[in-house]
Formats: sequence, C-alpha cells, structure tokens
Amino acid sequence: MPIEIPGKCLVCLVGTSGSGKSTFGRKHFRPTEVLSSDFFRGLVCDDETDQSSTADAFACLVHVARARLRAGRLTVIDATNLRREDRQVWLDMARDFGLPVVAIVLDPGEEVCRARNAARPDRVSMPARVLTRQDWLLRRSLGQLRREGFLRVSYLEGEAAIGEASVALVRTCGEGDGG
Ligand code: CTP
Ligand code: MG
Repeated sequence: MPIEIPGKCLVCLVGTSGSGKSTFGRKHFRPTEVLSSDFFRGLVCDDETDQSSTADAFACLVHVARARLRAGRLTVIDATNLRREDRQVWLDMARDFGLPVVAIVLDPGEEVCRARNAARPDRVSMPARVLTRQDWLLRRSLGQLRREGFLRVSYLEGEAAIGEASVALVRTCGEGDGG
C-alpha cells in the first residue's frame, strides 16, 4: 500500500540521525521539494555540520517552507522532528495556509542508525549519547504523533518496510501538477 500524500501538503519526516530521511527524500520526491536542515546549514555557513549556524539555517528553512506553501507547492521537511514542539512548527505553518500535514516516521532501529553513522565522515564524531537520546525521543514520539493533528502518520518500522515503501501523490480535482 503506497503512502498517499495530497499534492498540496507538507510532509514531515521523523527519524533519528542515520534513519534514512535524506535518502528517503531523494528517492521519493523532487530535489526542490525537500528542505533539509543540513542543506540550509551549508547554505548559510558552508558547513552542513556547523551546529552554531542552526538558528540562522532554521530561519531560512522556515522562510522557504512558508513561500512554498503559499505557492501551494508540496514541501518535505527533512529534519529529525523528534520533539512535539519541532513538529508543531510545521502543523501551525500548514494550518496558516489551510494545508494538511502528513508525517512519515522512519525507524530502521537504533543499532542500524548507529552503524550507518559510524560509516559517515560527517557523523562519525557524533557522541554516542546523542543518538541514544534521539532514539528515546523517537520512542516517545510514537505514542504522541497520532494525537498531534497530522492528516496521516505512516510508521515505517525496519529496513525492509522503509525500502519497500512507495509514495503516491493524490491530486484533488482541479489540482494540476503545476510544474
Ligand atoms: N543508508 C543506507 N541504506 C539506506 C538508507 C540510508 O545505507 N536504506 C545510508 C546513507 O547512504 C547514509 C546513511 O545511511 O550514508 C544515513 O542516511 P541518511 O538518509 O543520510 O540519514 P538521515 O536520516 O538523513 O540522517 P541525518 O539526520 O544525520 O541527516
Ligand atoms: Mg539527512
């Protein structure tokens, strides 16, 4: 069963570092549809891993996301979105434009994420406790997400489920592709 996504909506990816959010975004969406916090960090300071630029990068990401939603463009947020308050930003923004938000949770398992990050030059120095904490936040999120106001929450558990997932854009009557 494909994950059905309205043609005009905000997609909120949820997952720890190494869960495969950026990989999933590249596989299922156009490059310009995916707004990644790392990409915006790179834009503002030439270093996608420079945490000191997070606030500026996030402000830029929010600005572009609002512009896209105003234009009715499908927009995917590629950030961990592990805390309720992180996700609330996107729910509030989409509501301003009368658009729904779909959550896609990627959960290949903590050990998979840890092993993947150990093989990533830009993540290898991430302290172990960071992923431990992120995984805890993810487990907590699983019990909260369905009450937060998403149109749909798709929970992909395990590498196979993530790899086999497909996305189907459901365009409502009169909604063109536009591009
Ligand atoms: N990867 C993999 N097999 C998958 C998905 C991802 O081997 N099915 C690898 C990617 O090639 C990458 C790493 O795992 O080297 C992390 O994937 P990525 O999509 O970058 O994870 P993110 O969730 O985007 O991680 P971050 O939050 O750190 O950006
Ligand atoms: Mg990523």
